[in-house]
Amino acid sequence: MNSMHILISGHTGFKGSWLILMLKQLGYEVSGIALPALTGSLFEVAELHNQLQNDITLDITEHQQLAQVVKRINPDVAIHLAAQALVLDSYAHPYETFNTNVMGTYNFIDACNQAQVQKLLVITTDKVYDNRVNLGIPFKETDPLGPGDPYSSSKAAADIAAQTFQKMPDFYTAMAIARGGNVIGGGDIAQNRLMVDLMRAYREMEQVKIRNPQSVRPWQHVLDCLAGYLTIIDHLSEQNFEAFNVAPQLADLVSVQEVVEYTESKIGFRITEHRVQGSECSDDSFGDGAAGSGAGSNQKLKTECWRRTAGKRSEPLHEAKTLSLDPSKMRNVLGWTGKLDWRHAVDLTVDWNKQVIEGADPLTVTQAQIKEYLL
Ligand SMILES: NC(=O)c1ccc[n+]([C@@H]2O[C@H](COP(=O)([O-])OP(=O)(O)OC[C@H]3O[C@@H](n4cnc5c(N)ncnc54)[C@H](O)[C@@H]3O)[C@@H](O)[C@H]2O)c1
Repeated sequence: MNSMHILISGHTGFKGSWLILMLKQLGYEVSGIALPALTGSLFEVAELHNQLQNDITLDITEHQQLAQVVKRINPDVAIHLAAQALVLDSYAHPYETFNTNVMGTYNFIDACNQAQVQKLLVITTDKVYDNRVNLGIPFKETDPLGPGDPYSSSKAAADIAAQTFQKMPDFYTAMAIARGGNVIGGGDIAQNRLMVDLMRAYREMEQVKIRNPQSVRPWQHVLDCLAGYLTIIDHLSEQNFEAFNVAPQLADLVSVQEVVEYTESKIGFRITEHRVQGSECSDDSFGDGAAGSGAGSNQKLKTECWRRTAGKRSEPLHEAKTLSLDPSKMRNVLGWTGKLDWRHAVDLTVDWNKQVIEGADPLTVTQAQIKEYLL
């Protein structure tokens, strides 16, 4: 992919910010289209607009405008990250979530095709799979997609929209879909993600309450996730690929409690309160990235969400105790496996926060972690 121009949608978000810096270290030109960066985000504090060829603020639901902008940027490759990515917000704003995640994805794919972008990677999530029957068996790419909370359903619909484009006669862009989940790393500020809550508590010397310590999730560092994305793009030729699970090895499927205890051992003190099981809504329903329940999280909305669900179905939201992806297709078809096991992923996340708390520049810390990873 040398000397290529890569367009990222959602470049102001958590993954997008790391992706900008990773692509810059690899020598690419990078442009982005997204909503404005959130206050305190990595994009903002590291002044990542300075890294970009084009830094465009645009809502991807604007079909015509998006097509014009993508044509003007004229990238070789595009990576579609932009999404309303929070489960809890999807209950509060289902229309906006479906509009951004489904129509926004349709618009972005259509715009890339019109602009004759050579390769496009569409990012969905592990939550697209139908996990109503929770057998605890890792999902393969061939498993059926299914409905869930508004976020998960909208991403499943986006995934299906992308697959539909691949079957259209006038679709020329080589495209693949990447599904993953529970990505961790420094600089994430999203609400209701476990590591974000833990790192906020660490920074602000507060305590976090963990609701479902036994929930088992795959834990993946953002660098591994992004390296997986770039591997798929590298292998994309004229022909479309189907979907890939970009997931850690099954050995990295560990419980929230193990992650919490390991994190506490790394930072050197306890940041969690007594652990409560099964109250309010389930962890699984609050974030793409297993949720904690603590400082800064939206307790009112969670309680409301529980009441609504309980009122309708007389039971809490469904929770998959073990939600996992089978990573073997990436290994068998593309020869790719991640470099970082779950402890290493936590180490990097804690180190990033430790250095920034001690006054280091977030841009320098992020660039150093990327450099080390790429060695
Ligand atoms: N972080 C995770 O653990 C995780 C797990 C699985 C899948 N994902 C997926 O990866 C992608 C990136 O996730 P993230 O954690 O970086 O999310 P994020 O919330 O940090 O960033 C979302 C980005 O999308 C942009 N965006 C949102 N609505 C938009 C709109 N209407 N128009 C233009 N831009 C819009 C935002 O401005 C931001 O740049 C998303 O598609 C998400 O569903 C994330």
